[in-house]
Amino acid sequence: MGRNTGNRNQGGNVSHVDGTASRWSPSELIERNRRYLPGGVSSVNRLTDPLIAFARAEGAYLWDISGKRYVDYHAAFAPYFLGHNFGPVNTAAARALQSGESLFGSGPSILEGDLAELLCERIMAIDKIALLNTGSEATALAIRLSRAVTERAHIIVMQGGYNGNHDEVACNVFNTIAEIGPRVHPGEYPIRPLGAGTNIVAAGLVHPVNFNDLESVRHVCEKYPVAALITEPVLQNIGVIHPNAGYLQGLRELADNFGFLLIMDEVKTGFRHAVGGYCELANVRPDLVVYGKAIANGFPLAVVGGVREHVLKKQHFAERGRHLGDENRVGRVDERLVGIRQERVHRMPHLVRERAHRKQIVVVTHQDERLRPRYAG
Ligand SMILES: Cc1ncc(COP(=O)(O)O)c(C=O)c1O
Repeated sequence: MGRNTGNRNQGGNVSHVDGTASRWSPSELIERNRRYLPGGVSSVNRLTDPLIAFARAEGAYLWDISGKRYVDYHAAFAPYFLGHNFGPVNTAAARALQSGESLFGSGPSILEGDLAELLCERIMAIDKIALLNTGSEATALAIRLSRAVTERAHIIVMQGGYNGNHDEVACNVFNTIAEIGPRVHPGEYPIRPLGAGTNIVAAGLVHPVNFNDLESVRHVCEKYPVAALITEPVLQNIGVIHPNAGYLQGLRELADNFGFLLIMDEVKTGFRHAVGGYCELANVRPDLVVYGKAIANGFPLAVVGGVREHVLKKQHFAERGRHLGDENRVGRVDERLVGIRQERVHRMPHLVRERAHRKQIVVVTHQDERLRPRYAG
């Protein structure tokens, strides 16, 4: 007792808004949330300036709490490739829940095997997968696997890249020149953790280099026993930086020469550029590849895939988790959905139409300087 719960219902039905007018303004809403959530929002990069609080979404549209409609060019940082509230995915999820094929949490299941088979048959680069929930869990597992395979500890990451929220990769994400100093070539940048509380000892094994800079990768490999290099094939965190011609192939060659594993983080590019991701288009074979986001159109499902001998190493450490390969998520990715993605890759017809007709609409994009993460309250 002793907590102030007196205002808990102030604002009435705000948490059940249906896109029609709410009695709360976005700033009132965030003030209310701040009482219970640090920053007033569960992921800090969802804070926008000006502040917009969304109430619901359908297809290519979002509605804010006052009922105003927006075209969603942002797609919640990438997952809603098929559109929000996409019927076939929801139906597959509901079917898994209602049929009782969900939440066993004990023993092997038919659905997890079905999904694994489907992905391994459709994606050239992989012949075994591990199922997880989030991209961050998947990149952490990929790094751990690379250490198990190589029996080395150091990893190379990209300056300005984002590969998840765990200690070793949550560094050097958004930096100013003042923070990291002038351009380094060949060589690595000083570590700049994304947030307080990072394990500095683990961060000492991480080497940030510039994207498109093969000489820096070589330089780091000559100095340290490198287990893995992890990167998005198209760096999308600080604007969109395409790989120079030959860069991805060059990483492959360095991996082969120095014996580290090439981990392609296709959390954003997978099931978008192509079902198998950008590497499929670039014809570069990663040792391990990570998918998330669009793979289940926003439901939490992530995958680490790789060639047999690497993923088999998974048996060397016991991977445990109640929600790994949960059937209600696994049931959301079926043959038909993979087919639908193949058709839609590159086209996104609903957005192109909107762009032509509705120029006055406010566009919410992740690249907007004002939307960079901040933490207030
Ligand atoms: C390239 C990339 N890798 C990994 C992640 C982490 O995925 P998640 O947010 O599902 O943990 C993200 C998330 O934005 C990402 O963009």
